[in-house]
Amino acid sequence: MQSRQTTNVERLSADFVQDSYTLYARLREAGPPREVLMPHGIKVWMVTRYHDARALLGDSRISKDGRRVNELFTRHAESPDRAPAEVDDDLAAHMLNSDPPNHVRLRRLVGKAFTERRVKLLRPRIEEITDELLDAMVGKPEVELIEELAAPLTITVLAELLGVPPENRKVFRAWTNTLVGANHTAEEVATASAAVARFTEDLIDAKHADPGEDMFSALVQVTDEGDRLTKDELVAMVFLLVVAGHDTTLSMIGNGVFALLRNPDQLGRLLADPALLPGAVDELLRYEGSVSLATFRFTTDDIALGGVTIPAGEIVVVALGSANRDTEKFEQADQLDITRRLGSHLAFGHGIHYCAGAPLGRLQVEIGIGRLLARYPRLALAVDPGTLRWKSSTIMHGLETLPVALRP
Ligand code: HEM
Repeated sequence: MQSRQTTNVERLSADFVQDSYTLYARLREAGPPREVLMPHGIKVWMVTRYHDARALLGDSRISKDGRRVNELFTRHAESPDRAPAEVDDDLAAHMLNSDPPNHVRLRRLVGKAFTERRVKLLRPRIEEITDELLDAMVGKPEVELIEELAAPLTITVLAELLGVPPENRKVFRAWTNTLVGANHTAEEVATASAAVARFTEDLIDAKHADPGEDMFSALVQVTDEGDRLTKDELVAMVFLLVVAGHDTTLSMIGNGVFALLRNPDQLGRLLADPALLPGAVDELLRYEGSVSLATFRFTTDDIALGGVTIPAGEIVVVALGSANRDTEKFEQADQLDITRRLGSHLAFGHGIHYCAGAPLGRLQVEIGIGRLLARYPRLALAVDPGTLRWKSSTIMHGLETLPVALRP
C-alpha cells in the first residue's frame, strides 16, 4: 500500500499534550485550518479557531460514520501499520459514530430515558457519594484527588446509572479503567471490551426481567412509536457511555480544582460567594475543558472554511481546547474569570453530537468541586504544578494525578 505524502505537514510530537495551549495559540495565529500529522502518524486537518470550529461541527457535510472513518485512517496513515487499531464493529456502532438518520433515531430513544428530570433526581445521591469519599479523607494530610475523589465518584455514578449490581462494581470499574486509560495494550482493551459486551448482554436480560429505577432499565424499555433499541444497540450504547461519560467527568473535576488552585484570586471569590459555583463550572469547562480534540470526522464534500478548502474525503479534527481559548471570541481567553459573561463555549462540543450527558457531567463537577471546597477551603497543591503530567491521550485533557494538601 502507498504511504501518504507528508512533506510540509507539521508533525505533532507526542508530548504536545503537555503544553497544548502553546501549540494551539500558534496554529490559531498562523491562520486557517491546516494539515498536521498526529503523533500516531495519521494526517488530519486541524481546526483551531472558534468560529471555524463551530461552523464545522454544525456542517451537515461532515460525517462520523464509523466504518468510513476506519477506512480513511488507513488511507491517511503515514505508513499502513500506524493506523490505530479498529474498535470491534458492533461495539463501535453507537451514536457518536453515526450520521442522520440513524443518529437522530438513537439520540431520540436515548433522550427519552436520559432526561434532565432523571438527572436532577440524581443530585442527592451524587452528594451522598461525594460526602462519603470526603469522609474517607479525614485525618489524611494529603490525598491524590483523582484516585480518591474524581475517579470513584464518576465511576460510581455511572455504575448506578446503568444499574450495575453492587457485587459487580469492582470488576466493572476495572474494565472501564482499561477502556479509557491511556496505558493499556490492544489485547487488554479487546479483552475488556468483550467482557463489557458479555456483561451488558446479561444486564439487559436482568433489566427486562426485573426493571429497577436506574436509567438503563428505562433505556432497555424505551419505545418510540413502536421503535426500540435492539440488544446490539444497547450494548454499543453502554460502551459509549463508559468511554464518553467517565474519563471526561473525572478529568474535568481534576482540571477544575487544578485551575482554581492555580488562580487563588478566583478561588477566593468562589469561596466568598458559593452561589457563583454554576457559572464557575462553565468557565472551568471553557478554560481547562477535559476534551481537547473532538473525535475524528471526515468531509463528504469540498468544504470552504476560514479561507481554505478542505477537500472531500479528508479527516478533520476540531481542537475544542483551542477554540475555547480563542481571543476573537473570548476576551483575555487565557485568563480564568469565574464571573465572565461566557457565551457558548465548545467544551461539550456543538451540533448534532453535542454531549448527551452534559447536564450530568456539569452536576458531578459542580457537586464534586463544591463539596470539596466547602469541606477544605484551605486546600492547596501538594507538589510544584510544573511536575504534574497531562495524560498522554490526544483527545482527552486530564491530569494523571493531582496531589493536594487538605489543610483542614
Ligand atoms: C464534564 C464532563 C463531560 C464532558 C466535558 C463531555 C464532553 C463531550 C464532548 C466534547 C462530546 C462531543 C464529542 C464530539 O463531537 O466529537 C460529547 C459527546 C457525548 N457525551 Fe459527553 N462529556 C461529559 C460528560 C458526559 C457524561 C456524564 C455522559 C453520560 C453518562 C456523556 C455522554 C456523551 C454521549 C452519549 C455523547 C455522544 C453524543 C452524540 O453522538 O450525539 N458525556 N461529550
